[in-house]
Amino acid sequence: MQWVGLQPRTLGRGLSTFCSKWSSVHVLMLVVLGVGPSASARHHMQLMVKPSRNTDVVRATHFSAGIPVSTVLTRMFVCGLLRTPNIDRLAEEGVKLTQHLAAAPVCTPSRSSFLTGRHSFRSGMEADDGYRALQWNGGSGGLPANETTFARILQQQGYATGLIGKWHQGVNCESRTDHCHHPLNHGFDYFYGMPFTLVNDCRPGGSPELDAVTRARLRLYTQVAALGVLTVAVGKMCGLISVSWKAVLGAAGLVFLFFVSWYASFGFVRRWNCILMRNHDVTEQPMVLERTASLMLHEAVSYIERNKHRPFLLFVSLLHVHVPLVTTKQFLGKSQHGLYGDSVEEMDWLVGEILKAVEVNGLKNTTVTYFTSDHGGHLEARDEHSQLGGWNGIFRGGKGMGGWEGGIRVPGVFRWPGVLPAGRVIHEPTSLMDVFPTVVQLGGGDVPQDRVIDGRSLVPLLQGTAEHSAHEFLFHYCGKYLHAARWHEKDSGRLWKVHYMTPRFHPKGAGACYDRHLCPCSGDGVTQHSPPLLFDLSRDPSEARPLSPGSEPRYHAVVARVGEAVKQHRRTLSPVPPQLSLGNIIWKPWLQPCCGTFPLCACGQDGDPSET
Ligand SMILES: *[C@@H]1O[C@H](CO)[C@@H](O)[C@H](O)[C@H]1NC(C)=O
Ligand SMILES: *[C@@H]1O[C@H](CO)[C@@H](O)[C@H](O)[C@H]1NC(C)=O
Repeated sequence: MQWVGLQPRTLGRGLSTFCSKWSSVHVLMLVVLGVGPSASARHHMQLMVKPSRNTDVVRATHFSAGIPVSTVLTRMFVCGLLRTPNIDRLAEEGVKLTQHLAAAPVCTPSRSSFLTGRHSFRSGMEADDGYRALQWNGGSGGLPANETTFARILQQQGYATGLIGKWHQGVNCESRTDHCHHPLNHGFDYFYGMPFTLVNDCRPGGSPELDAVTRARLRLYTQVAALGVLTVAVGKMCGLISVSWKAVLGAAGLVFLFFVSWYASFGFVRRWNCILMRNHDVTEQPMVLERTASLMLHEAVSYIERNKHRPFLLFVSLLHVHVPLVTTKQFLGKSQHGLYGDSVEEMDWLVGEILKAVEVNGLKNTTVTYFTSDHGGHLEARDEHSQLGGWNGIFRGGKGMGGWEGGIRVPGVFRWPGVLPAGRVIHEPTSLMDVFPTVVQLGGGDVPQDRVIDGRSLVPLLQGTAEHSAHEFLFHYCGKYLHAARWHEKDSGRLWKVHYMTPRFHPKGAGACYDRHLCPCSGDGVTQHSPPLLFDLSRDPSEARPLSPGSEPRYHAVVARVGEAVKQHRRTLSPVPPQLSLGNIIWKPWLQPCCGTFPLCACGQDGDPSET
C-alpha cells in the first residue's frame, strides 16, 4: 500500500486554485464515513490503491461524511475573508473537487439524489409543478421505502450507520408511528436530529417562510369573505337586503371555521415542524434553537467514540448557514460578513470539533471524510440589512435554479490520509450522486442492479488511476424540467453547457428572482431557448457570453451532439408515484409526530451538554 504523506502543501497555490475555480458559495453538507474493520466487512471492504490486487489493498476503515446543510461557500469563504481554518485544513489534507454538482437546486430532491445516487425524479422526489420540497413533518410524501440509500448498503456490510442533523426526506405514510420514510427505515441504525429542515418559522416571532404565498392568499380570502358577510349583515340591519339572520350567522360561522382550519396548521408551524427526534422518539417539541448545535456536536462526538472499534458511517447534516442562521453567542458579530459570515464560521468550528473527535480517537488514517453542500447560495434570502443566503462568487444564479452554475456548483472535499493524495485538485465534472457508488465501493458493497443509478464511482478519479470523470454528459434539472446539459468533451478538454430553459430574473438582469422567494422551473417564469443557449465553461465559467454560430464554428455540431445525449437519457425515464403532489404535501393531523398529548405536543427531554 502506498502512503502518500501529507506534505506541507504550497498553501498559496492551493488556495489560489481554490479561489479561481471554486469561488462559489453554497449550502454545505458534511458526511463522515468511518469504516472500521469488522469480521463480516473485512472480506469485502477493500479499496484498490494500486492495480496489483494481492499486495495493495486498503480497507476503508471509517467514513465521515459531513453535510452542513445550508452553508454557502463564498469566494470569501474559500479565499480567507471568512475564517474557516478547519475546512481549509480538510481540503489541504484531502482531494478537492472544483466542479462538484448537486443533482437539484433545493434541499429535498438534492438530498434524495445524494442518498440514492439517482436523479430525484426516479424516486418521485421531484416537483411536478407545485411544491419543490417537503413542507410538513405531518405530510405523507417522502423517500419511498423501496429506494436504497448508501446507508442501507453499508448497514448490510456490517457498518454502524448514523445520521445526525437534518433529514427532510419525510416521516410517515399512513399513521403517526409507521415511520415509513424515517432514516431508521432507510438504512440508518441511529438518528438524532430534525426530521424536517430549519426554516424562519422555527424562530419564535420569525417572519413566515413556509408557504408564505399560500398563507398570504388564505389570509386575503378570509378577509374578503369576512367583508362579504359583514356587508350582508349591515345591509340586513339597514333593511337593504332580506336574508335570515340564520343565514348570516351560518356564513359567519363558515368563514370562522375556514380561518381556524388554515390558521391552526400554519399558526403552529413551529410546533409541528421544528422538532428534534432521537431514533423513533420526539425529544424536543418545539426545539430550542440556541442549543441545537451543541446537542448535535455532542451526539456526533459520542457516536464516533461509541463506534470507534467497528466500521461506521456517520452522516452529519448540519443545520448551519440556512436561515434563520441560528448562531451562538461566541460567534455572533465575530466575522467580517454579518450574521451569514458568523454562521459560516460557527459551522467551520463544528466541523473542526468533529474532525478532532476522529483524530483523538486514533481514526484519522482509517476515516474517509467528505464535505459538501446540497445546493448553491440563496440569493433571494436577504433583509434590509444584509444578505442572508450567501453569495455564489463568479457563478451565475443560485438556490432554486437548476441550470445556472450558481444553483448547483458546490464544494466537494474527500480526505483519506495516506490513501488519497493530499492537496490534489480535480477539475473534472462530478456529481453529488457519485457519492452513492463511491461509498458503496469503499464499503465493499454492490450497487443495486435493478434500477438506473446515475452516479459513477469517484474512486479511480480520487486515487489518480483515472484522468477523466466517468460523466461525459450531466443533465441539470429544475423540478421535473430539464433546464441544461453539460458535455465534457475529453479530446478537446472543452466544457460545453447547453441551456434549454432559464428563469426570468426580476428585475431584469438582476441575477435572481427578487420578486419571489425562489425562481420557478416552468411556466411564464422561465424563458425557453430554441435554439438553446450555448456556453463554453472552460473559457467562460460565469456563463456570461453565449456562443453563436458566428462566434463558435462548432455551435451546431455541439448542440446536436448534446441533443442526441438528451434523447438517450430520456429513454431511461419512467413514471413513478409523485411524492411532492398536493395530496402528499399537505399537513395531516394523524401523521404529525408528537410528544405528549396531541394536539398540545410539547416536550424537552434532553439537557444541554454544554451546560453540564
Ligand atoms: C497516518 O498517515 C500519515 C500520512 O500517510 C502518516 O504520516 C502517519 O504516520 C499515519 N499515522 C498513523 C497512526 O498511522
Ligand atoms: C418503487 O415502487 C414504485 C411504486 O410501486 C415503483 O413505481 C418504482 O419503480 C419502485 N422503485 C424501485 C427502485 O423499485
